[in-house]
Amino acid sequence: MNLFKNIFKKSPKLPPVDLSILINDIHSHLIPGIDDGAKTMEDSINLINGFREIGYKKLITTPHIMSDQYRNTPEIILGGLEKVRNEMKNQQIEMQIEAAAEYFIDLEFLKLIEEKKLLTFGNNFVLVEISFFSEPPMLNEALFNLQIAGYKPVMAHAERYGFWNNSYEKYEDLKSRGALLQLNIGSLTGFYSPETKKISERLIEDGMYDLIGSDCHHQGHIDLIKGCRTEKYLHKIIESGKLLNHSL
Ligand SMILES: [Fe+2]
Repeated sequence: MNLFKNIFKKSPKLPPVDLSILINDIHSHLIPGIDDGAKTMEDSINLINGFREIGYKKLITTPHIMSDQYRNTPEIILGGLEKVRNEMKNQQIEMQIEAAAEYFIDLEFLKLIEEKKLLTFGNNFVLVEISFFSEPPMLNEALFNLQIAGYKPVMAHAERYGFWNNSYEKYEDLKSRGALLQLNIGSLTGFYSPETKKISERLIEDGMYDLIGSDCHHQGHIDLIKGCRTEKYLHKIIESGKLLNHSL
């Protein structure tokens, strides 16, 4: 009887991890009206206040730049950032905010690398993403060209590309090619899929991630992060001391 009791005993819930240790969030969509993130300035301000409540001190927001969907430029993004900063000043919101971008890897992106006018954060980091359906043929070329041009590629939500679920060696290959890997905090809840959760936990076990981010588009993502704070693997990655977030 005692044996059964022990087997079915639920593991104790962990206390919420203190995300203020990270200091910085490095992946979000907070500039209003330029991608699939915040739609209005009110949305932006509400989301920024949400980050403050969680304990973040600085946000590096990363609107999409995608040739066939979100044709954003540094001018559009930095102009939007200025408007958000002005509104934050008006409302006396204490939070540092900077902008970079989340670049979609395609042929157009190869041209942008050549022009050397990419939006970066931290130590010349460039956040990149790829299609969720298949690996783009120019992926390795883009990673190589970025580094030749002096940039350091960061693969956004590395765990979310389902076509790599059964190709774990791909992650080792990406790292050997100089890419850093970023985890979406929400992946740890199983929000995207059970497979995404599984891969993210394995990558954490193996110490493969360099950065973590919210990928916040809307209030639902703020709630997701709050709920994720009791996840064992979020504790694990934060306690690993390997994350670069605080240094940016
Ligand atoms: Fe994103």
